[in-house]
Amino acid sequence: EQINKGHYEHYMQKEIHEQPESLTTTMRGRLIRGDSCKAKSVLLGGLKDHLKTIRRSRRLVFIGCGTSYNAALAARPILEELSGVPVTMEIASDLLDRQGPIYREDTAFFVSQSGETADTLNALEYALENGALCVGITNTVGSAISRNTHCGVHINAGCEIGVASTKAYTSQIVVMAMIALVIGDDTISSQGRREAIIDGLFDLPNKVREVLKLDQEMKDLAKLLVSEQSLLVFGRGYNYATALEGALKVKEVSLMHSEGILAGEMKHGPLALVDENLPIVVIATRDACFTKQQSVIQQLHARKGRLIVMCSKGDGSLVCPGDSCRVIEVPQVEDCLQPVINVVPLQLLAYHLTVLRGYNVDQPRNLAKSVTTQ
Ligand code: G6P
Repeated sequence: EQINKGHYEHYMQKEIHEQPESLTTTMRGRLIRGDSCKAKSVLLGGLKDHLKTIRRSRRLVFIGCGTSYNAALAARPILEELSGVPVTMEIASDLLDRQGPIYREDTAFFVSQSGETADTLNALEYALENGALCVGITNTVGSAISRNTHCGVHINAGCEIGVASTKAYTSQIVVMAMIALVIGDDTISSQGRREAIIDGLFDLPNKVREVLKLDQEMKDLAKLLVSEQSLLVFGRGYNYATALEGALKVKEVSLMHSEGILAGEMKHGPLALVDENLPIVVIATRDACFTKQQSVIQQLHARKGRLIVMCSKGDGSLVCPGDSCRVIEVPQVEDCLQPVINVVPLQLLAYHLTVLRGYNVDQPRNLAKSVTTQ
């Protein structure tokens, strides 16, 4: 049943719209509600026996390719905050190109929807040779990565057919947020923060259901952008990864050039591209970076940038500097979970752009779902 399109026209469309359910499955049995004698907590059976070693690691290294790498990047801030251990990110091919340092005292996490990506598998072999504890985060039970790692967590997002990953991305972020929660579980000072995130996780499928209602709005935006050459997406903090992933979706399926840009780097190059023609999405939902993003919007507006601002519900008039600016208002959730919400309108935009431009949604040219060769 999972592998037919139901009433949808494309697998990618179906997979975008089933995210409330895939996220529910990802979290099923793993969130403990707590009561008067037991705190709210997270249970990840696959990591249980290795938590002590993970907490004592010198470093947590997250390794992946494409969307899976972006998912790790989205979870990085919360992993850093709750684990108390330095967290680094590696694109698998780049780690191998550099033969970058991996130590016995490291815990290396291998993030892969398919569990079969050649670069990620080679990086796993390399980390095993170097003696690191290796943890798999995959969507495929029995895959090479789940078999060859010491332990792991399945994301349980259900079978993903569209070459462009959508529901696996949001489930990967949720799994890594849950990993951050279990690693930090022995720290009393962050108990309140952890409970707020767990509450946020319980409510997340509903919030995703709400953001999916933007479908028609994103179709209208796609109509407006259909003939553009290029689209920039600015993000920072929790949503730097959202900018990268939104741009990746747009370029891989709609074949429109698109770049995700770290807003903090705007003045160091990207600002030169800004004029009255180039459309720019700025992600400015509420979090600790909000004021800085407001200033980015002002600076882009001063250079006549064509702005599309993604903001928290009710912030539209606050963030938009002029009538020419378009707003995408999204439900606000706990800051570290906001990337799960914010990526959805960009997935919808990429989907509608592709259909309008007449390209193959589920099989973009030159791309494969699982890249098993180097
Ligand atoms: C390919 C797919 C992407 C995916 C990447 C990593 O490029 O087209 O959608 O993100 O591989 O795949 P993995 O299965 O390791 O997550």
